Amino acid sequence: MVYTLITGACKGIGKAIAENCAARGLNLLLVSNDSACLPSVCEAIRGKGVKCEGLVLDLTEPTAPATLQRWMLENNFEVNMLVNNVGIGKGGTFASMEMADMQYMMKLNNNVLVEVTYRLLPELKKHQKSYILNLSSLEATLPLPYKAVYTATKNFVYAFSLAIAEELKFSNISVSVVCPGPVLTNAEGLKRMTAHGGRSKILMMYPAQVAEIALEGLFRGKRVIVPGFLNALFFKIGSILPVNVKMSLLEKLFRVYKTA
Ligand SMILES: NC(=O)c1ccc[n+]([C@@H]2O[C@H](COP(=O)([O-])OP(=O)(O)OC[C@H]3O[C@@H](n4cnc5c(N)ncnc54)[C@H](OP(=O)(O)O)[C@@H]3O)[C@@H](O)[C@H]2O)c1
Repeated sequence: MVYTLITGACKGIGKAIAENCAARGLNLLLVSNDSACLPSVCEAIRGKGVKCEGLVLDLTEPTAPATLQRWMLENNFEVNMLVNNVGIGKGGTFASMEMADMQYMMKLNNNVLVEVTYRLLPELKKHQKSYILNLSSLEATLPLPYKAVYTATKNFVYAFSLAIAEELKFSNISVSVVCPGPVLTNAEGLKRMTAHGGRSKILMMYPAQVAEIALEGLFRGKRVIVPGFLNALFFKIGSILPVNVKMSLLEKLFRVYKTA
């Protein structure tokens, strides 16, 4: 039995990707640290007629990627698609952030993604066709003042994804990176969007929309997927503006994150 593995699949974009995969008939392995919601998410997915198994695991635990790999091996779960979705974002002025929060963010958004990918590569190589989908952000190439560390972790994911996509170009594994703009998922995101006012509403998308665009792009072999016309436009403009102009503009637009 072949599965798609999704990290951080209990809520938000990860859950929407799981639901979209199930609608496409894909069997699922879902990982989350949320023991309260994972069983019910898995049950709802099974109700769509596909197999679904869940693993409750805090992926930031030092041995978590190894535990995940052992769980797959012991249960003979074959995986031909990996969705590295799990990630968190905290903001504020760099000096006011807690060091522990920034280290946690770098660990979850980057270290975990690299180690899970590394450990799953041999399994992904076994199949005729395999896929890796990594969750970055529009902020990957638009470095946001007042979200310095988050933005940097997403830049890491972006660069890492492009580099391994090139390394694996002639293999059976297709790698895509998705760079969503604001997506209405958790309370933290809602707070940021409220702080922005009407401006963020024109860019805001729902998790189900992002999931559909991301999976379509992945299966078409697109390396970089930017959901939403306006987000894609900003992504392009950001790549051609002189750095000083871009950074000063971003500082003005995102000054609200100093406090919100
Ligand atoms: N939302 C946006 O606007 C946006 C925009 C661009 C990119 N992204 C990226 O998209 C991805 C998903 O974001 P989201 O907004 O959908 O997140 P979310 O709503 O916070 O959901 C994240 C999921 O991951 C789980 N999780 C968190 N920490 C974990 C850990 N240590 N171990 C295992 N599971 C853990 C969460 O469970 P708990 O809730 O129990 O912790 C939750 O189920 C992230 O990589 C994010 O950076 C989001």
